Amino acid sequence: MNQDEMKRAVAIAAVDMIRPRLEKETVIGVGTGSTANFFIDALARCRDEFAGAVASSEATAARLRQHDIEVFDLNSVSQLEFYIDGADEFDPYFNLIKGGGAALTREKIVAAVAKTFICIVDESKQVDVLGSFPLPVEVIPMARSYVGRQLAGLEGQPVYRDGVVTDNGNIIIDLHDVDILDPKAFERHLNNIVGVVTNGLFANRGADVILMGTPQGVVTLKPD
Ligand code: A5P
Repeated sequence: MNQDEMKRAVAIAAVDMIRPRLEKETVIGVGTGSTANFFIDALARCRDEFAGAVASSEATAARLRQHDIEVFDLNSVSQLEFYIDGADEFDPYFNLIKGGGAALTREKIVAAVAKTFICIVDESKQVDVLGSFPLPVEVIPMARSYVGRQLAGLEGQPVYRDGVVTDNGNIIIDLHDVDILDPKAFERHLNNIVGVVTNGLFANRGADVILMGTPQGVVTLKPD
């Protein structure tokens, strides 16, 4: 199985996992990225079995609509049964790095609301310690230099992601080369820098279940 085949396999496994619990009024949260796109395509087969979805990005909203899946504003929804999304890295404790596609803030909001976060990844995303993948930080544009200086005072190298504007109109600074030994504390620390909207660590709200694609098939990981 190549990487795309593993992504497609976990996407189908996620649909199989949630399908028995879908009801006519169920709204689910849907993430962003290539694995989430495979999920949306697989979800289309049961579009008549649930009410619709809240999207974590404009790109995801467009893909959902292409499949005639209704897209809800999060403010009109009191409860999300599931959030299904990919990740850039995950560690043995279900902490994640996300935001390679710059959708981290909306992803974090939707994940916060959802009852169950099902993370869908191929095995290349598995690490012992987070941080080999550059950690995205979404920043209010006028605070770019200030936040860059604050990040430069930490371990690692902050790099402005040139030309990228998030769906929220902000910029991204990626923090390279940092071993994130305490993801919960680091997530809180970065979020306390004035001008930071949020960062791509999903540790204080990590995944509840990870479906990992391997060449041998999909492995389901749950906390002990
Ligand atoms: C989007 O901002 C990200 O958080 C994605 O969920 C993450 O980058 C995974 O993307 P892929 O599924 O394309 O690897």
